[in-house]
Amino acid sequence: MTITTVILAAGQGTRMNSKKPKVLHPLLGKPLIYYSLEAVRQVTDACPVVIIGHGSEEVRKAIDDQAQLVLQRPQLGTGHAVMQAAPLLQGVSDLVLVLPADMPLLSPDTLKRMVAEASRNRGPVTILSVISDQARGFGRVIRNPEGEVIAIVEEAQATPDQLSILELNVGVYCFRNEWLWQALPRIPISQKGEYYLTDVVEIAVQDGLAVGSLTTQDVAETIGINNRAHLAEATAVMRKRINEYWMVSGVTLVDPEATYIEPEVAIGKDTTVWPGTYLQGSTVVGEDCEIGPNAIVRDTQIGNGCKIFMSVLDQALVEDQVDIGPFGHLRKGAHLCRGVHMGNFGEVKNSTLGPATKMGHFSYIGDATIGSEVNIGAGTITCNFDGERKNPTEIGDRVFIGSDTMLVAPVKLGEGSRTGAGAVVTKNVQPYTLAVGVPARAIRKLEKK
Ligand code: UD1
Ligand code: CA
Repeated sequence: MTITTVILAAGQGTRMNSKKPKVLHPLLGKPLIYYSLEAVRQVTDACPVVIIGHGSEEVRKAIDDQAQLVLQRPQLGTGHAVMQAAPLLQGVSDLVLVLPADMPLLSPDTLKRMVAEASRNRGPVTILSVISDQARGFGRVIRNPEGEVIAIVEEAQATPDQLSILELNVGVYCFRNEWLWQALPRIPISQKGEYYLTDVVEIAVQDGLAVGSLTTQDVAETIGINNRAHLAEATAVMRKRINEYWMVSGVTLVDPEATYIEPEVAIGKDTTVWPGTYLQGSTVVGEDCEIGPNAIVRDTQIGNGCKIFMSVLDQALVEDQVDIGPFGHLRKGAHLCRGVHMGNFGEVKNSTLGPATKMGHFSYIGDATIGSEVNIGAGTITCNFDGERKNPTEIGDRVFIGSDTMLVAPVKLGEGSRTGAGAVVTKNVQPYTLAVGVPARAIRKLEKK
């Protein structure tokens, strides 16, 4: 069976009380709609159709390359929304899977089971329901005495008897393509002036066709985001899901309740993550690392056997056996080679620190290329900015930089050279030369080791 998908994302999301379109609110660093797109990607290769309306320009910018976007204007209800996809999908597939964009916890597995159920039963509509005594404004699923689904009644229209029904409409449907597009125009207009997609259930019944159903046991999966309290609730469930995945995969999370791992992060076996840690964006952590407590790591690659303690790493590259912190800060383009030690209160930006280089205390390294086994004394600063330009610093292998050295860039320190404590280096220092003072001058040659 071929499958196409429609994701409904045109609604206003009034209760978010926000300038931002609802589906762009972040959940663990990703916009809500990311989760629907990811879930359908696991069900079908077909490019999903996303119905946009409120905040359409912003939504378009965020997902234009991941979906076929169709503008629904005005927004006349869920049935009207699906109708907008007709020109793109009519006759294209066997089945059409429809889901809302504001249900980020819907699992790909449930969507696959929906498709399997729709392929199995002969009816033109299969609905997803959930049994819960927390109605959350969901429509009620009405069955006849034989147990067949005959209607979905919206909460606002339900009789007191219907309100007591515990089977709720999740808002996920799988339709037979050839039936769907002729059924949608038959939806009657509601009292509110909307076309409810849920009314196609009764249309199928009128046609004498069976309505299929699948019931999920997982209520959490059906949390729809209507306000920011729901967003927090869904975030907690998603965080738990991701954390459990990593624990099963061989990662120790000392306190999963206080560990925030975004969906695209990867972590190697036997790494331990301590509480207060945020692993964000495209971060990759190797095996046998200790991360945290209190580490924020964003879009950063960390090798094996590293220790990252109370530090902030952003868009950096850290090779194996590196230790950082407490209070280290790696910024964009920081590259720490194998075995680098970076102690407290260090900042590195757009610079490479060669293998086994040590930077123990209170230093700023920016726009620098530093060789291997360099000792960067306490308080070393690359003065890389002259008020107009960022200037480079080059430091050779096995250089020893005395405490409190100012490296006024552009400047080069040759291999094996040294600076005295408090040197202000304004001119290049030759290899194997000791330079001291303000401004620093060469005072003697050093023995090669
Ligand atoms: C809908 C269902 C209800 C179900 C509930 C579950 C209908 C009539 N009712 O109600 O039975 O229990 O979902 O979440 O379908 N949207 C559009 N264009 C529109 C209107 C809505 O794209 O014109 C989108 C919204 O952005 C949202 C989804 O459709 O992603 C659902 O719309 P919403 O208004 O939230 O429907 P509910 O009233 O919650
Ligand atoms: Ca809703």
